[in-house]
Amino acid sequence: MFSEQTNTGINGIVTVPGDKSISHRSIIIPSISRGICEVSNILKSDDVLNTMNAFKEMGVEIKEENKKIIINGKGLESLKMPNKELYLGNSGTSARLLTGLLASQNFDTVLTGDKSLSSRPMKRITNPLSEMGAEIKTHDGKLPLHIHGKSLKNCQIQIEIPSAQIKSGLILAALNTEGTSCINEHHITRNHTEIMLETFGADIQTKKFDNSSKIIINGKKDLTPKNIDVPADLSSSAFFIVAALINKNSDITLENININPTRNGLLIALKKMGANIKILNKRTRAGEIVADINVKSSELNGCELDKEMAKLMIDEFPILSVAASQANSPSQFKGLDELRIKESDRLELIHLNLNTCGCYSEIKDNNIFINPTKNTEIINPEIRTDYDHRIAMSFAILGSKIGKLHINESESINTSFPTFKNQFNKAGGKLY
Ligand code: S3P
Repeated sequence: MFSEQTNTGINGIVTVPGDKSISHRSIIIPSISRGICEVSNILKSDDVLNTMNAFKEMGVEIKEENKKIIINGKGLESLKMPNKELYLGNSGTSARLLTGLLASQNFDTVLTGDKSLSSRPMKRITNPLSEMGAEIKTHDGKLPLHIHGKSLKNCQIQIEIPSAQIKSGLILAALNTEGTSCINEHHITRNHTEIMLETFGADIQTKKFDNSSKIIINGKKDLTPKNIDVPADLSSSAFFIVAALINKNSDITLENININPTRNGLLIALKKMGANIKILNKRTRAGEIVADINVKSSELNGCELDKEMAKLMIDEFPILSVAASQANSPSQFKGLDELRIKESDRLELIHLNLNTCGCYSEIKDNNIFINPTKNTEIINPEIRTDYDHRIAMSFAILGSKIGKLHINESESINTSFPTFKNQFNKAGGKLY
């Protein structure tokens, strides 16, 4: 895909697709609850479709009617042994959450994925699960995973890595385990699993401390479905937000965006940089906070963010770095270790691509320093993405400001935002 400078700015009202994290959970949790659940505005991207197919393979009735997904759940132990391996494509969320869920089922499964997912670490979920007695074979710590499903023992687990995927995998394992399990996380990570389970009547309680929380689950309790209206994805909105900020004559409104405080770091960071962002009509829906977001072109300053902030905006560093590259002063973002093991080595690709776009950046100890160069001259217009959807979209946005860039392997965008190109062009972008 090519991205060219916009000559109109980025304008209008944008309807961003459903949140990816909540969409995965909107399939997983109804599939193990008892009753019918109607899900509106689910994200139909490759990642979410892979989760949906996995549950169909395990015998769950899932159909589409009037643009809604209808899931007929039959209980915590109703899943059937699939006839084949479950292929999860590029989706780390599906892999980690399903590993936890399937470890406590009474059948065996094999999880596989694409090249990127097959290179990502899985011991982070299989190790804590083994404390519950789970039997999972990895291929040198990676996919394919061979899960020997069995009854697990309840646990007191400490999670050292900041990861909602690990936490959620363990919660799903604990739901189908007799007795009380306690999961202690020493960081703040997104809490969509806990929120949805509470609305489904799970016996789950979260005790919050400053930068940590304790989640207590009494297992083997039936879940009762509630219909779900998936709010729009802040991580996908982020591309439009930054596009509007860095391009002159822009004014956009993004509707119905999930601004859950465990992952709204991008909005805090951009405001710190002087962004003209207004949060409108804040409301709560099924425990999740949603709002409309208005964004206007802004003169941005650089900013410094510490490692605690990284946890609240882990997926947004590629696009935040694009914003920082167009600011009036340097930025430094610290504690980006986890970026190395996302869909690609994001830290390296941010650095490499910013530099080929003529913007100076440097990595030291997994911190990135970005020194914006005004009147950027593109050294090489070829953007390397390693099939990473967020790298592809971030540099498409940079192209809308600095000029023609060629985004390689841009089909990866289907992972999370299949309508990105159309919607961005409707708002004034020039992607083709
Ligand atoms: C996700 C958690 C995050 C995030 C990913 C989605 C989730 O991963 O990067 O895109 O839905 O739980 P980690 O838990 O590995 O940080």
